[in-house]
Amino acid sequence: MPSSLLLPLLPLLPLLLSLSPTLAIPSQPLITNTTTLPTNYAMLVYQSFTALDVFGPLDILNGLSMYYSNTTSMHISVISSTLEPVTTVPLPNARMNMTHGDFGEKMLPTHTFAEVLAANGSVATGEIEVLIVPGGGGARDDRFEEIEFVKAMYPKLKYILSVCTGATILARAGILDGHRATTNKRAWTWATSTGPKVDWVPTARWVQDGNLWTSSGVSAGMDLTYAWIGHVYGEAAADYIAMSSEYRRWYNASEDPFAEIWGAK
Ligand SMILES: *[C@@H]1O[C@H](CO)[C@@H](O)[C@H](O)[C@H]1NC(C)=O
Ligand SMILES: *[C@@H]1O[C@H](CO)[C@@H](O)[C@H](O)[C@H]1NC(C)=O
Ligand SMILES: *[C@@H]1O[C@H](CO)[C@@H](O)[C@H](O)[C@H]1NC(C)=O
Ligand SMILES: *[C@@H]1O[C@H](CO)[C@@H](O)[C@H](O)[C@H]1NC(C)=O
Ligand SMILES: *[C@@H]1O[C@H](CO)[C@@H](O)[C@H](O)[C@H]1NC(C)=O
Repeated sequence: MPSSLLLPLLPLLPLLLSLSPTLAIPSQPLITNTTTLPTNYAMLVYQSFTALDVFGPLDILNGLSMYYSNTTSMHISVISSTLEPVTTVPLPNARMNMTHGDFGEKMLPTHTFAEVLAANGSVATGEIEVLIVPGGGGARDDRFEEIEFVKAMYPKLKYILSVCTGATILARAGILDGHRATTNKRAWTWATSTGPKVDWVPTARWVQDGNLWTSSGVSAGMDLTYAWIGHVYGEAAADYIAMSSEYRRWYNASEDPFAEIWGAK
């Protein structure tokens, strides 16, 4: 149609533009296949974890659980070596000698490693199916208990997700041997040295190899979580949760400017 015919509509343009966001409001997509959705999630925490490694993924899962409470039932356990509050405050150690006083936050565990292992990987609501392992300055300590826990739990899990240097705990447990994985780019040299038999992928926001999902540093844990939700619950649900928290997802796992910035190769 000739553009001259559209001219009389021009005064209506602001109105049309103001209507379009209302018309475009997304409706919540259904999760249709609920046969194999996980019920029991667990977050492993230790002294000097990175806050966003833990609360980025958890906030996304909180959203999933809230929006889909009529579709699926989800439980989260927070597991550590004791039931004492676990702080993000870095303790200086030989590998990461940084301290900044007492600035940090504490999280309360719900279970100890020993309790969960004594119950053969179960909590009151059933077997733990998804375990998330964060990174942080504390990952540079020996972390014997966390490594033993991951080693014992992995065969029972449906999925394990690690964020940042959390991958070093998986690597030291031996579960990444012969598999593709990624980790924090700034800490690349040290982090990859913990798993000489791992096929480390330097340029990756996250990597999936079977049920092993590993992310790059800190904020990448959120993109990993959305990608994992997309895989398990469907992309539509993952997008809906991201839009609800006004988060712009990173869809391409191989797009990773931070590898070059930090010289990871
Ligand atoms: C539901 O998902 C499971 C596991 O991914 C799959 O085996 C099954 O075929 C799916 N069922 C339908 C109806 O899509
Ligand atoms: C769950 O179902 C109830 C009853 O149908 C409804 O009132 C409620 O809004 C639903 N909640 C969600 C999060 O969809
Ligand atoms: C950390 O660095 C300070 C100052 O260089 C040093 O005195 C201290 O021994 C170091 N601590 C550890 C645990 O390596
Ligand atoms: C422990 O759990 C595994 C599955 O995670 C199961 O195969 C095994 O039978 C359980 N062992 C006992 C003693 O309940
Ligand atoms: C993903 O990013 C990589 C690296 O930038 C690029 O080579 C590739 O073409 C991208 N893939 C898609 C589907 O856009």
